Parts: sequence; structure tokens; C-alpha cells
Amino acid sequence: MSGKSTNITWHDQTVSKGRRREKSKHHSYVLWFTGLSGSGKSSVANAVAERLFQDETHTYVLDGDNIRFGINKDLGFSEEDRKENIRRIGEVSKLFVDSGQVVLTAFISPFRNDREEVRALLEDDEFVEVYVKCSLEACEARDPKGLYEKARQGIIKDFTGISSPYEEPANPEIVIDTEKSSIEDCVEQIVQFLKEKGYYR
Ligand code: PPS
Repeated sequence: MSGKSTNITWHDQTVSKGRRREKSKHHSYVLWFTGLSGSGKSSVANAVAERLFQDETHTYVLDGDNIRFGINKDLGFSEEDRKENIRRIGEVSKLFVDSGQVVLTAFISPFRNDREEVRALLEDDEFVEVYVKCSLEACEARDPKGLYEKARQGIIKDFTGISSPYEEPANPEIVIDTEKSSIEDCVEQIVQFLKEKGYYR
């Protein structure tokens, strides 16, 4: 995939990231939610996006299921495909950050190394990893889409937590526990972090 483009030149834009940030009066960065299927990534990411949006922050949510309907419809759930999924989302996220927005990504992103590669694509203050902690037992009990049941029956192969691994983040900026805290409390915890960092508008 990489290394195929030759004779290409990078062009800086007249309207820079810095100018966009100045105009919108807020920092642009990625809130990278990672966790098991059913852990609550999308719910919390959307609730945070809503909160930021209400406070005049430009936000966009990139969500696993939705992205796989379009840009990543050619990818499945093998280790190699998940890696490529996350690589593309990392690049897309970087474009959003460059455009001056706060991008909230909700992907299982099970492999530590893939997440660290996304971190490395961005500046230090542009990547906030949010571990959406929830035990496999609780996710399986929730089973909002009936996928765990299918995975247990062997109908779905390579299912995260059942027949495919999930590597917990080693050093996430934020850990939210959706078994112990409500969505509202998780949002507050994240907003508090953003305020402390000076990222909140
Ligand atoms: S990954 O691992 O980051 O590439 O996955 P992601 O792009 O976030 O897609 C996860 C959603 O796809 C559905 N689904 C599966 N998840 C895990 N394993 C397998 N085999 C699988 N097959 C389909 C599922 O709805 C996931 O959504 P969430 O919101 O995480 O439950």
C-alpha cells in the first residue's frame, strides 16, 4: 500500500491550521476512543461531541460501523484489515485536525501498536487516547447488536474479545469506566480533562 507514490510534492495551504484555530477560537485534536464492542465508545463520543458542539466547538465523529459503509467498505476484521482500517482513520483524523476541528473517533482499534502509530502521525497535543473500559462479561451481557451471541455460536469469526484479541492501552490520557459511571459522568470526566489541558473553548 505505502511507497507506491513517487514524484509527488507536498503543498502547504494558504489557510493554515493555525489560522483556522485562531478563527474558530479553539484547539483542534483527536479524542481517540478505544474499547470492546458494546463498551460505549459511540455513545460517549457522541455525547461529548454534543457537549462541545453546544459550546461552539467544531466537532465531527468518525464511527467504526459508519466508516465501514464507505471509505473502508473493502476491509474486514482480520488483523491486517483492522490495521489498515486504523491507519486510514488516522490519516483522515489528521486532515480533520488540520481543518481546525475536534475529531472524535469510535473504533475498537484493538492493537496498541496501531493506535501508537496514529499518535505518532499527530503532534503531542493533538492526540488524546480515551480507554472506554468495560469488562467482556458486561459487554457480552449488553450485546446491543446480538454480535456476541453470533460470535459465541461461531457465526461471526475473529470477533474481538472472543476470537480476536483486544490490547488495553498502556498509558491512555483518560480512562472512563462505563460499568461504574453513567454516560453523563463519563462526559464530565472528559470535559474536565480538556479544561485542565486548556483545550476546552
Ligand atoms: S476495528 O477493530 O477497530 O477495526 O473495528 P471497527 O472498525 O471499530 O468496527 C467495529 C464494529 O464492527 C462490528 N463488527 C465487529 N467488531 C469486532 N469484531 C468483529 N469480527 C466484527 N464484525 C462486525 C461491530 O458492530 C463493531 O461496532 P462496535 O460499535 O464496536 O460494537
